[in-house]
Amino acid sequence: FEVNWNAEAAEKGGYEHFMLKEIYEQPKAVRDTVMPRIAKDNLSVVLDELKWNKEYLDSFHKIFIVACGTAYHAGLVGKYYIEKLARIPVELDIASEFRYRDPIVDEHTLVIVISQSGETIDTLAALKETKRLGAKTLAITNVVGSSIARDADEVIYTWAGPEIAVASTKAYTTQLVTMFLLAMYMAGIKKCISADRTEQLLKQLRELPAQIDRTLEDTEPIKTFAKQYGFNEDVFFIGRSLDYNVALEGALKLKEISYIHAEAYAAGELKHGTLALIIKGVPVIALATQKSVYEKTISNIKEIKARDAVVIGITSENNNDLIKCVDHVIKVPATDELLIPLLTVVPLQLLAYYAAITRGCDVDKPRNLAKSVTVE
Ligand code: G6P
Repeated sequence: FEVNWNAEAAEKGGYEHFMLKEIYEQPKAVRDTVMPRIAKDNLSVVLDELKWNKEYLDSFHKIFIVACGTAYHAGLVGKYYIEKLARIPVELDIASEFRYRDPIVDEHTLVIVISQSGETIDTLAALKETKRLGAKTLAITNVVGSSIARDADEVIYTWAGPEIAVASTKAYTTQLVTMFLLAMYMAGIKKCISADRTEQLLKQLRELPAQIDRTLEDTEPIKTFAKQYGFNEDVFFIGRSLDYNVALEGALKLKEISYIHAEAYAAGELKHGTLALIIKGVPVIALATQKSVYEKTISNIKEIKARDAVVIGITSENNNDLIKCVDHVIKVPATDELLIPLLTVVPLQLLAYYAAITRGCDVDKPRNLAKSVTVE
């Protein structure tokens, strides 16, 4: 009789890799992060960790969001949320750029840093520097008691649980919902959102964990795409608005773990050069979920199809049109278009995962990359 047991396999809870386990933990991670923060009547966001009022919020002339890697991509969505819902201008920067560019920061600036680990050196240095310049600082992090959590004036924790795989998945989705909660909180203080709209959005937010679960149910089509296109040299991701932000994260995931050259483009930017790279057989992942720019994205997809690229479209389940102009469609559950990034990113994470498996890559520990970059 032999006991075949090792600690790492046990920690993976039956999954082959931490990354896959963490992808599947997203419904729980998002639930744990949002549920305690939605008021029972769905009419407000409860962020007990912040004691903000209108006067405090009005004292800021500017908000900066500063982060690295996937957290930076969460910042892109966060900027969109704050500007759209709370109507406050936000500037976003990569921490390693921000800290060396002599940013204009003073006591009328709010600096939001986003970091899964709470230990990334550039993000930490940006936080320290802006504090020194008099800014108020808010950290969004996943690690209680981390350096960034300790240094910031205020902290909102994402409750994703430990993330082990180098490629971030559940930290990203919890960062997105946290930014959404924060934007709703600000909009509530500023009274620039109606009670009806608040209720509608917070009800949708409650549905999200179950909807993420649904995106994880049938992964067969994604496995097939990964096998079909996993050996291509280049993959392009396109989208507009929030879809573009998710496209950036999808391309990063694919690069990080499968080593396929992947690039994300704002769909409207294609004609300014990138279209030259779109040739017969190149896979293009096209996200098309945002109503206000949907038709524009469709014309871009048509330009791509005219060059014989293979287009995989990603859209919401109530859209029956997209299939007419792409080769394959992946559908995600229908929700408010502000929240749909939480759903469209899931097939992109899975695509990166299965492409890496197809190519025999070390999914959890990609070459040359570290989970937490604590030295410059
Ligand atoms: C590293 C990780 C990425 C992560 C980035 C920022 O590059 O490999 O997954 O997004 O650092 O990390 P942080 O802990 O600050 O979110």
